[in-house]
Amino acid sequence: MNTNFDLVIFGGTGDLAMRKLFPALFLADTDARLHQGGRIIAAARQALTDEEFRAKVSDALNRFLPKPPSAANLEKFLARLSYFALDVNNPVQYAEMKKSLDARDSQTVFYLSVGPTLFPPIINGLRSAGLNTPDTRIVLEKPLGRDLQSSRDINQLVLSAFAESQVYRIDHYLGKETVQNLLALRFGNTLLEPLWNRTWVRDVQITIAETVGVETRGEFYDSTGAMRDMVQNHLLNLLCMTAMEPPSSLDPDAVRDEKLQVLRSLKPWTQQTLHDDIVRGQYRGGTLKGEAVPAYAAEPGVSPQTETETFLALRTEIANWRWGGVPFFLRTGKRMAERRAEIVISFKSPPHSIFESPLAPNRLVITLQPEENVRLYTMAKAPGDGMRLREVHLDLDFKDFFHERRQDAYERLLLDVLRGNPTLFMRNDEADAAWRWVQPMLDHWTTSNLSPAAYGAGSWGPPAASRLTARDGTAWHEELGG
Ligand code: NDP
Ligand code: BG6
Repeated sequence: MNTNFDLVIFGGTGDLAMRKLFPALFLADTDARLHQGGRIIAAARQALTDEEFRAKVSDALNRFLPKPPSAANLEKFLARLSYFALDVNNPVQYAEMKKSLDARDSQTVFYLSVGPTLFPPIINGLRSAGLNTPDTRIVLEKPLGRDLQSSRDINQLVLSAFAESQVYRIDHYLGKETVQNLLALRFGNTLLEPLWNRTWVRDVQITIAETVGVETRGEFYDSTGAMRDMVQNHLLNLLCMTAMEPPSSLDPDAVRDEKLQVLRSLKPWTQQTLHDDIVRGQYRGGTLKGEAVPAYAAEPGVSPQTETETFLALRTEIANWRWGGVPFFLRTGKRMAERRAEIVISFKSPPHSIFESPLAPNRLVITLQPEENVRLYTMAKAPGDGMRLREVHLDLDFKDFFHERRQDAYERLLLDVLRGNPTLFMRNDEADAAWRWVQPMLDHWTTSNLSPAAYGAGSWGPPAASRLTARDGTAWHEELGG
């Protein structure tokens, strides 16, 4: 990293900063990827000295890094950090912040690691202090608003103070190594492309299942739900990377133009599909990995009468020549049976079978976590007499080939912001198209007053989720033995 920088993290004492941002920055620093003069300034209301703040970060690094930091690396990293106490609603304090930033010839980045209701005072504060100069960058954490209108209001406000090229709307799923590998797999090989369409693909499933509940974020989650927290951003981005046409280059806008086309081609909702093609769920108490866990409604910060969904499965289609008629199933949930994020492409069965054994459809499974690998399920002859076919799989495990350290998603994205590469960030029109598709679902739930279906913690969601795939003559990957 050759550019000197000042990275200001609003919300720099929060959960995201401590669990993800500082560990990611530490790893980048340890790999000598940060300019040696780069400064990281955390801003929040709590009164803390620099030393007290550094002690907090040191504690977080010890807890959240894969292995404890060495004393030398820790000391070097902590020396970059300082703390600036401010209430973002107080416009006066931005002028003070400006004094310390003006004194340096460096790239300034403002990272808004706060809830979206604090975006307007911060953007207005930066503008009134003249901190929105053309060479600054601003990073907006998700969720970008609560609905189409509030996201438009935020985008309008941010674009009144910064140019689109200065705005980095972050979605950490786009920074995950395997998501990048999806580009390599699809566009660095010729093997898959002829099959990657409605002629050969039977259905596509994209799942992000978590075993965690809402942990310390009950209050935030209860006003958010799985649709806003996971589907509107992470799942739709994975869908775009899976379904988009080959971009003309890796130029940021070439990639983002193709993603946008997918979002614009998502089949519009009708009253019928809103009713039939979406399953909302909420976890009840249950057992996970042998331990009893409480119901969502009993989690700290959650209303006992909550109607928020902690699980969502839906069926959609992409109305274009490549994908017309192919079901795309998206699914996410908290407190599910396993932590698993995967994209499953199921191929059509052979048009005529010469075997007595039933033929399971070929499936290509791209796993993002907990491991990063690609598995192809195929049919093979079982040893012995006769032609008995059995399903086997070919595995491509990236760790067998690459021994370099895997970059964390936030690490990659923070470095991209510092370098000025927006490819893996959402453009305004992408965010808008995603919200436009999501809004009818939110409206439907408000007007229909439907409660989410119950599912036991530690399960794969409500039974209705299995009926959703069964209607298309298919089943979720784990139900097929994956
Ligand atoms: P937290 O509630 O843990 O942190 C909020 C931060 O904002 C704290 O540093 C708080 O410090 C500061 N803050 C709150 N009000 C003010 C104010 N008026 N002036 C100045 N600072 C203020 O939230 P998270 O870190 O969990 O989340 C931050 C954002 O990131 C949210 O939008 C969340 O949705 C998003 N996000 C979070 C993820 C996570 O895993 N936590 C994952 C992905 C996105 P203080 O109270 O001292 O002012
Ligand atoms: C965040 C959501 O964006 O992504 C969390 O707010 C969720 O609710 C998290 O747990 C999942 O990210 P990962 O990388 O742990 O799968």
